[in-house]
Amino acid sequence: MRISQRAERIEPFYVMEVAKAASQKAREVAHTDRPVVFLNIGEPDFTAPPLVQAAAQAAIDAGQTQYTPALGLEPLLQAISDWYGTRFGVQVPAKRIVITAGASAALQLACLALIDRGDEILMPDPSYPCNRHFVSAAEGVAKLIPTTADERFQLSADKVAAAWGPHTRGVLLASPSNPTGTSIDPAELRRIHEVVQARGGITLIDEIYLGLSHDEQFGHSALALGEDIVSINSFSKYFNMTGWRLGWLVVPEALVPVLERLAQNLFICASTVAQQAALACFEPASLAEYERRRTEFKARRDYFIPALNALGLTVPVAPDGAFYAWADCTSACQKLGLKDSWDFAFAALEHAHVAITPGRDFGTDQTARFVRFSTANSMTELQTAIARLKAWLHP
Ligand SMILES: Cc1ncc(COP(=O)(O)O)c(C=O)c1O
Repeated sequence: MRISQRAERIEPFYVMEVAKAASQKAREVAHTDRPVVFLNIGEPDFTAPPLVQAAAQAAIDAGQTQYTPALGLEPLLQAISDWYGTRFGVQVPAKRIVITAGASAALQLACLALIDRGDEILMPDPSYPCNRHFVSAAEGVAKLIPTTADERFQLSADKVAAAWGPHTRGVLLASPSNPTGTSIDPAELRRIHEVVQARGGITLIDEIYLGLSHDEQFGHSALALGEDIVSINSFSKYFNMTGWRLGWLVVPEALVPVLERLAQNLFICASTVAQQAALACFEPASLAEYERRRTEFKARRDYFIPALNALGLTVPVAPDGAFYAWADCTSACQKLGLKDSWDFAFAALEHAHVAITPGRDFGTDQTARFVRFSTANSMTELQTAIARLKAWLHP
């Protein structure tokens, strides 16, 4: 069978190889006193809170399961719009919001609407692997730009200006970022946007982790910069609804009919049950629970980052959001005679029974030196992981 070049361009998700090895190891050691601690998975360990679960059940019981409009349920669009006002102090009218099947579908729609064959999109190295594949699936070219710790592993305005070429169409940023949990400095983001605007390009920003921001300095939506920003978001992370497949994007008003046309044809609509349930996310009791969980994510970060640093797994920039730690394992590799972060991840699984993600998926620049820890696990599991890594690295 002849496979399309488009499909062939999509690289495998190497993380899955590690995940497979972790599951295998977990089965082997399940009944020992050292079961595997999973710090490789980028999803909250919490589930949707009770009101959200009840709202889903009620929608099913009431038979509210027909298609919704392609743009999403009107009350949900309004609830998201209100949330931007109360949580981030930014006015986003409901008519600029499009509900999608997760941030993944939002990114696909944005790329299909804005990218033509050969258009180049600038993004940081390291970054979330699927983002470059969404660009590639739209027949664009993702151009990864190496970043440094000084830049918080984010693009800078100078680098965007220097990398901009005749085929460049825009930038795709993520703030806070996966895999680093670091956000773009607000002043730098403004400068990047000015560089992009001056060249007639588009600023796409993935704000899926913005709700899980731990630092007032960074916890602002890029939407405050202007109505031409395209911001992607989701119910997966802050709202703890990964498997419900629900997200949204905020776009310039002129783009809404274009996205509506694409969404009607490609998806018809996002899950009706998930949309009905998501309305309950904005009830005061649910929001209070989400804020309590956010505090817990912060407490985990505050414990875990210094503990990693003390082990010599240096985290060059303290994450200000999300639930990741991007740690340099170079000195540990030297000590253990390991080649790179890929081997380190497998060795950590073998010797400490701790599952982590090697840097390889996230880019090519310095990713052989880095591993990603997810702190979306209980404090007890995080403490166990640190104790095991310590016993292995510093016996
Ligand atoms: C940066 C980033 N963008 C998008 C996604 C996709 O999220 P969703 O579950 O909303 O499709 C993820 C998932 O891990 C992510 O880390």
